[in-house]
Amino acid sequence: MSFRAAKGENTRRSRVGDVIDGKWRIEGMLHRGLTATVYGAVHLRNARRVALKILRLDQPVFREKFQREGSLANAVGHPGVVKILDDGVTEDGERFMVLELLSGSSLERRAERAARLPIEDVVRWGCELLDVLGAAHARGIVHRDVRAAHVQVTGDGSVRLLDFGAAARGFDDPRSDVWAVGAMLYTLLSGRTVPRWEMHDACHFAPPERARSLRDVAPDVPRAICGVIDRALAFDKNDRWRDASSMREALRFASFAAAGEADTERAIPIATSRADDDRQTLPSTPVALAGRRRRISKVVAVTVALGAALAVLLSMDPYSRERIARAASHASHAIAAR
Ligand SMILES: Nc1ncnc2c1ncn2[C@@H]1O[C@H](COP(=O)(O)OP(=O)(O)OP(=O)(O)O)[C@@H](O)[C@H]1O
Ligand SMILES: [Mg+2]
Repeated sequence: MSFRAAKGENTRRSRVGDVIDGKWRIEGMLHRGLTATVYGAVHLRNARRVALKILRLDQPVFREKFQREGSLANAVGHPGVVKILDDGVTEDGERFMVLELLSGSSLERRAERAARLPIEDVVRWGCELLDVLGAAHARGIVHRDVRAAHVQVTGDGSVRLLDFGAAARGFDDPRSDVWAVGAMLYTLLSGRTVPRWEMHDACHFAPPERARSLRDVAPDVPRAICGVIDRALAFDKNDRWRDASSMREALRFASFAAAGEADTERAIPIATSRADDDRQTLPSTPVALAGRRRRISKVVAVTVALGAALAVLLSMDPYSRERIARAASHASHAIAAR
């Protein structure tokens, strides 16, 4: 990992070279945000490298945001959330947080670098992100600030969700995150933004206007995938996916549909859930999917045949009744044997 020089950083406030809490030496700046700065740092004695986030604006509202980030991120219990390792206050009174150092770059950075990102990659990152959010939602935690800058794709290609500073536990609607994931995927796939208010929560309740269908602005994206993302962005929140897990299942289905059920080679390889307690409801291959559908239609066909036979039997004389019963029995056996 290479650190950017502390360019743009107020030199008087530059922290590069400083030792924090007697053990973390700051090596370089990774990001300068509105309220905090993220540095790369190394432990003086055991050489462990970490990210160190220092709160610059020391006001109650930001202090609270900082504290929330520390407490809620680790509570999600999913390997896709960046780990918070420690926190404290610097010698000159600034709050800091120590995080595992992630390799790779944020989706925002990736989108800036590439004219268009490969559809397969975006769908896979989307599914991984929804897996992380599904674990958060299952614990009553809503992130409330999902965007490309808060999703890091690490060197091994896996996704980490950052910055739980705006997260809430226990009273918020998971469809807020569903909308935000939809908006992010829409932009990554089409290069266009969806109509949105500045305030994240306001978009959740009612965006300023309907988004154009992704199908119209990105015609090369498979229709099934467009359908899932369009539904996440539905104008009426009651029409959206109810939480991250249901959107994830739909996106996985869509990736199978996009590849064509018989064509397993082209299916977008999406890992099964990494959440500890996730129960998989989808079969793992398109072929298994097709098999399950065939079994369901067989059961329906047999039930209909038996029902029809019963109705006819009840309205017949005893001789005809026996003949019809025999015929219905043959028919249902024939369907079941197919
Ligand atoms: N643990 C980490 N390892 C590596 N890079 C990180 C880490 N945490 C954050 N970053 C980098 O810093 C950027 C901003 O992170 P984060 O949103 O947590 O900071 P912030 O102070 O809230 O910034 P902003 O106000 O711009 O959102 C990320 O997009 C990522 O590139
Ligand atoms: Mg942030």
